Amino acid sequence: MSASINRTIVLASRPQGMPTEDQFRIQEEPIPAPAEEEVVVRSLYISVDPYMRNMMNNTSSSPIDQVIRGGAVGQVISSRSGKLREGDIVSGMWGWQEYAAVKADDLQRIDPDQAPISTALGVLGMPGLTAYFGLFDIGKPEPGETVVVSGAAGAVGTIVGQIAKLKGCRVVGIAGSEEKLNYLKDDLGFDAVVNYKSDAFDSQLKEACPGGVDIYFDNVGGPVSDAVIGLINQKARIPLCGQISTYNLDKVDVGPRIQPQLLMKRAMIKGFLVYEYEEQYPEAIVQLARWVQGEKIQYTETVLDGFERLPEAFLGLFEGSNTGKLLVKVAEVE
Ligand SMILES: NC(=O)c1ccc[n+]([C@@H]2O[C@H](COP(=O)([O-])OP(=O)(O)OC[C@H]3O[C@@H](n4cnc5c(N)ncnc54)[C@H](OP(=O)(O)O)[C@@H]3O)[C@@H](O)[C@H]2O)c1
Repeated sequence: MSASINRTIVLASRPQGMPTEDQFRIQEEPIPAPAEEEVVVRSLYISVDPYMRNMMNNTSSSPIDQVIRGGAVGQVISSRSGKLREGDIVSGMWGWQEYAAVKADDLQRIDPDQAPISTALGVLGMPGLTAYFGLFDIGKPEPGETVVVSGAAGAVGTIVGQIAKLKGCRVVGIAGSEEKLNYLKDDLGFDAVVNYKSDAFDSQLKEACPGGVDIYFDNVGGPVSDAVIGLINQKARIPLCGQISTYNLDKVDVGPRIQPQLLMKRAMIKGFLVYEYEEQYPEAIVQLARWVQGEKIQYTETVLDGFERLPEAFLGLFEGSNTGKLLVKVAEVE
């Protein structure tokens, strides 16, 4: 082990509204030693995800001066567990730290021959699983149906749209820049795309959905979702996945009352958290990996280099800086 100092990033103060970089602090401490049944991992990729913003409102899930928790991929550098060996590549929830001592039972071993290891945080990890279970278990897509996905160019949205296409649906993506719309249409094969920042968003959305909306995969909430829900068909399904447009609001958002629309359309809206499906993860990962290996679905990543860039990367989620999964690369595999 050449380095002896571990850097961690802690929450320095609780954000109100949009967080700022000075609300995070880098700390230095010695690299930990593993206790019995633990290993020490060196972080290779660390994930930034929108849910972390909600955690930061909560004193128990994100205490001040404590390391920001979240998904990461790393390499075992020392082990006191029979389950993992030095050199193994693993994923876990040790968060924003360069080195961490973690119970071997809390880690998943990654097969680097299956796909690039960073995909364990994206298409073959939590975001891919969210797309898979939200679309299939709640959306229940049928061939020929129209699926609208908001946050379409992000980690979850890119996978939702592509697997809906594989099921024979017509897919409409909503995102916030022309570059993202071109990517969705030209590279991922979405049937229609709409920029929610356009002044003509409502009419463009209507034009993109001439047969109405059968499934709305809601990643963003707010006025975007109000517009989509106005177009739903009879017996529409709405997997309620995320509400990123509201995460930095300091007052409760008020929009149109959607209940009459849901009632008259006999529609179903269902919130879900991917962790509910934990027991089914292995089978879903096998399917997603098959699609990736067979080039049936593509994935893209926006990768920032350098541990100290984690706060910058995280804030970028709320500015639309990413296409596909947003990650920070911390170190190379040794
Ligand atoms: N239910 C679950 O278990 C679960 C699991 C994972 C994720 N989620 C949720 O799913 C959503 C997507 O997550 P992700 O990891 O795939 O993130 P992501 O889409 O990769 O990144 C966030 C994207 O949201 C868009 N955005 C930011 N502010 C917005 C606003 N005010 N209005 C509309 N769009 C906005 C930006 O794209 P543009 O450039 O298009 O604005 C940004 O790139 C989030 O709401 C997240 O909380 C839920």
